[in-house]
Amino acid sequence: MQVLHMNKGNGDTSYAKNSTVQSKIISVGKPIMKEAVLEMLCNNVIESMGIADLGCSSGPNSLSVISEIMDTVEAANRLLGRRLVSEFRVFLNDLYSNDFNNIFMSLPAFYDRLKEEKGLEFESCFILGAPGSFYGRLFPINSLHFVHSSSSLHWLSQVPAGLESNALKRLNKGKLYISKSSPQSVVDAYLLQFRNDFSLFIKSRSRELVAGGRMVLSFMGRSSTDPTTENSCYQWELLAQAIMSLAREGRIEEEKLDSFNAPYYAPCAEEIKDEIQKEGSFTIDRLEAFEIDWDGGAVTDIHTPHGKLSVGRRVAKAIRAVVESMLESHFGVEPDVMDDLFIRYGDIVGTHLSKSRTKYINLVMALTKKW
Ligand SMILES: C[S@@+](CC[C@H](N)C(=O)[O-])C[C@H]1O[C@@H](n2cnc3c(N)ncnc32)[C@H](O)[C@@H]1O
Repeated sequence: MQVLHMNKGNGDTSYAKNSTVQSKIISVGKPIMKEAVLEMLCNNVIESMGIADLGCSSGPNSLSVISEIMDTVEAANRLLGRRLVSEFRVFLNDLYSNDFNNIFMSLPAFYDRLKEEKGLEFESCFILGAPGSFYGRLFPINSLHFVHSSSSLHWLSQVPAGLESNALKRLNKGKLYISKSSPQSVVDAYLLQFRNDFSLFIKSRSRELVAGGRMVLSFMGRSSTDPTTENSCYQWELLAQAIMSLAREGRIEEEKLDSFNAPYYAPCAEEIKDEIQKEGSFTIDRLEAFEIDWDGGAVTDIHTPHGKLSVGRRVAKAIRAVVESMLESHFGVEPDVMDDLFIRYGDIVGTHLSKSRTKYINLVMALTKKW
């Protein structure tokens, strides 16, 4: 949590310019989000609706979800011919190191659009930053009606215990995440960390949401119970190959690769359900899995030599915008080595995708806080 942040600003390697996959994930989950908002409003008038987007990052996606939620409320207002929500209190959460400045700078234009397109005055929509970790309490008791989080909960609060870079034994040599060759102790350490983190997340939100409040979460997962399945870990496998190729040339220390384990976990539906049911304050209204292309589906023709390369490079840029801060902090490499790493990674990904159309699995769930 101290090192992870998406690439800041609006430059070529920024998250703002390389978040098409996450935008696709938001649009895939939109019908579930809309359904949850409408069901919550059904027969309900909320004077001041508390909404939180957890892991909002920066860039075009940060406010797009909020805009969608407001559109859904406005559509319900029109349908019923009365105002169901008088004002919105919107909390944008992310870690302390997130580029909040970038979001705040885009707020005047956002408020202008609210007025022009939705007829909403500034006085009826209060957007606030809420820095901190969602693995713990962020908001006062019973202050929220709707919680949303997209593409964030697959990040763990820390590298699983026993796999940290200062651990005595290197249990997952040559790998960055769970892989087919990882020992069972590595798989167990990841699952335990996920269980601890996710249960703390659910427990914290159960204090903050009012009874009947909704939560729509979407994050990377897997469709098989096997944690070594390709669609949950192969992007890391290929990144490890690119790092290894630089290590062979002495441009990265191989020991650094052996001591890195990503604070990431792609759970299956059963693992999620277990934690929600154990905690006991939410009902699961929906839990669905969607396949997402590694490039967000932006380019379909991957068979021409140029097309193949461009898909790989696009995927590499998307992954770089997310993981560069962690790699930089752990490997401590010069910028030219980082550039070279992601060129190699793009080539490796391009070659892989020309043979196998591996996809991410994105899990979307809608939960209701019990009465
Ligand atoms: C890939 S971005 C997703 C951003 C945005 N929701 C979207 O869909 O484009 C993941 C975000 O989760 C944030 N994040 C990771 N762990 C977090 C934590 N424990 N608490 C709050 N935010 C966290 C990261 O800092 C990052 O900005």
